Amino acid sequence: MDSAYNPSNVALLEAERVVQQVQLDERSSRERRNEMGQFATPPALADDIAAAVTRFCHQDRIHFLEPAVGTGAFYSALLRNFAYDRIASAVGVECDPYYAAVSQRLWGDSGLKVIKADFMTLPYPEEDHLPNLMLTNPPYVRHHHLTGDQKAAFHALACEISRGNVSRLSGLYTYFVFAAHNWLAEDGVAAWLIPSEFMDVNYGESLRRYLSNHVTLLQVHRFDPSDVQFADALVSSAVVIFRRSLPATGHRIRFSRGGSVAAPNASFDVPLTKVRTVRKWTQLFTAPSGRSREEGIPLTSLFTIKRGIATGANDFFILPRRDLAEHGIHERFVKPILPPARLLHQDIIESDRAGFPLVKDQLAVIDTDVPIDQIKRSCVGLWRYLQDGEKDGIQKAYLTSKRSPWYRQEQRQPAPFLCTYMGRKKKDGTTFRFFWNRSDATAANTYLLLYPVGPLKRMLEENPGAGLRVLELLNGLAPAGFTDQGRVYGGGLFKMEPRELGRVDATSIVEDLQLQIAVQPDLIPI
Ligand SMILES: C[S@@+](CC[C@H](N)C(=O)[O-])C[C@H]1O[C@@H](n2cnc3c(N)ncnc32)[C@H](O)[C@@H]1O
Repeated sequence: MDSAYNPSNVALLEAERVVQQVQLDERSSRERRNEMGQFATPPALADDIAAAVTRFCHQDRIHFLEPAVGTGAFYSALLRNFAYDRIASAVGVECDPYYAAVSQRLWGDSGLKVIKADFMTLPYPEEDHLPNLMLTNPPYVRHHHLTGDQKAAFHALACEISRGNVSRLSGLYTYFVFAAHNWLAEDGVAAWLIPSEFMDVNYGESLRRYLSNHVTLLQVHRFDPSDVQFADALVSSAVVIFRRSLPATGHRIRFSRGGSVAAPNASFDVPLTKVRTVRKWTQLFTAPSGRSREEGIPLTSLFTIKRGIATGANDFFILPRRDLAEHGIHERFVKPILPPARLLHQDIIESDRAGFPLVKDQLAVIDTDVPIDQIKRSCVGLWRYLQDGEKDGIQKAYLTSKRSPWYRQEQRQPAPFLCTYMGRKKKDGTTFRFFWNRSDATAANTYLLLYPVGPLKRMLEENPGAGLRVLELLNGLAPAGFTDQGRVYGGGLFKMEPRELGRVDATSIVEDLQLQIAVQPDLIPI
């Protein structure tokens, strides 16, 4: 591109970019970065993706586009992996003026033209000026951060490009892929670093349809959750590489996992016909299975499963955290407890600083073994509250009468994973919901508590971020497995006891996480 630029400068520029990236990230709050989807790609990962794409990109002259360029992690990787004289043009789009300015300043001399704009509304160029290579990590902005107008416009475009229905729960990254379709030249290659959830969830259907029908999908790579080389946020990411052309008959797609995109630990060439027929793509990363699937590995080899606590009088013991002060109850006499599952709008329960779940209406459960006369001296508000309870006979109820003191609950550590205890079958066949609990909240007996054991426990200790993958896998377990094990009540209500949940076939989780589990007959609950 620019003859004044010296390609050997790229390492210095990249080092400076990393410094600038940290400074920019530090200037912004985590909330704002979430809303803007501002999480940069680690240099090694950008490099790996660019290296993997060299296999598929045969164009002599490369016209590069990065639709969410940030500080230019992928442009820098492009310079490191492709001969400089092959790069005929390069454009980066970035809506944040600070990132755009840094990118332009660092990479402008080497020929990158940064357009400060919203990619989603930017008109694409004339057909003979279209880019033929795209490498990107688009913003992961969840649908509820998009305005109604944005959703309507993005949705219409997405339906048109994917030629079918698009879920309104789709996040911005999905819309980015569809919007970028019109930018890519025929036969051009695109590599997207996106959340792997699109492979299984309902709202990923439009993307799966697009990738398997309207372009030639080349490789889908998933990182191993046990691989800690990338930041937590990337553990559940996938790399999708495709060419803009209709797929040939007999086309096979490489589904790879572990290691790096360019040199995966395992890969399977799956016929497109199969990819089009499976509902969940996560099952395409394993060899058609033999022994273990026939015999099944029960969930109980991965988790100890317990019912949540039965307080014996929820209305009395569980109260809104914000009411504690009004009653004069000190927080050291209570524990955080989860609200009912119907009030949880996310499957990931984040924590505030005190260990309470980050939900709108936080709840606390009274739980202490401090004797009553001591409570009278140290927390008169709680003492009065308990006195009122005694007047109502709470201490004489079946469960409370067996406890000493009657206001001390069963002791249950906060469980990292939870499952609803009952549920009705939904349209997609699922009945029970799983959660990943990152708070210190315990849960009532409307939940089942799942405590990882053995190799899964060790894996999560080494790499806590892999919890996200575990959650995806739990939510992706075959719905029939639950309804076969649980019991059905009138009106299609299913209930599941810990032993029943323990019998559900978890082979797919063991295979996906590559856990070494020895199935002992006595682990299989009967
Ligand atoms: C996940 S970050 C990745 C940045 C860069 N691609 C990388 O890999 O390091 C996404 C970037 O997209 C930018 N962005 C968010 N919404 C955008 C939009 N509508 N148009 C253009 N850029 C956008 C963010 O400011 C952020 O820099």
